[in-house]
Amino acid sequence: MTETPEETKPEPAAQASEAKSAQPAKPAKPAAADAEVSRRGFFSWAAVAWVGFTAAAGGCLTAWGRFMFPNVLYEPPTSFKVGPPSDFAPDAVDERFVESNGVFIVNDQGQLYALIAICTHLGCPPNWLEAQNKFKCPCHGSGYYRNGINFEGPTPRPLERAAISIDPDDGQVLVDKAQKFLWERGQWDDPSSFLTA
Ligand code: FES
Repeated sequence: MTETPEETKPEPAAQASEAKSAQPAKPAKPAAADAEVSRRGFFSWAAVAWVGFTAAAGGCLTAWGRFMFPNVLYEPPTSFKVGPPSDFAPDAVDERFVESNGVFIVNDQGQLYALIAICTHLGCPPNWLEAQNKFKCPCHGSGYYRNGINFEGPTPRPLERAAISIDPDDGQVLVDKAQKFLWERGQWDDPSSFLTA
């Protein structure tokens, strides 16, 4: 007996299975490539970590350097010589030491004293106006007589004096700004606040 064409035709499910198994197999990823990728990742993380470590170490080194070698503020000495008493003309204000040491040397009515060149209002440096015979502050207009007593503007009190003496070694006038004398406390009568010219 011969088979009919219907009997030899394969089932549709079997056909699909055969087609699937006929597709070429996907090639497996080589193990060496995987290792290469993970090695590259490791090195990039190591580089980031190294940069971070270097930056942190640099910061620590800078902080240590600043601790070991701090900034030093060089200020003019508070005590300094201004020359012999004969250098200061009577009834005059000497401005030679304002810029370098912040004092006016005043020879006034037989006394030599050092007025500190700081306005007693808010601390601006006053100017000596020879023609008007007064100190004038450029900030808010306070005015002081030649002896340092205030007479105009917002300042509440006179200029301050620095200690003044004669250096026994060379006879020069020695000024010491570390010691101040305030008129309102009666300190201008202190013999350390003036020299007899
Ligand atoms: S600071 Fe001199 S008047 Fe104000």
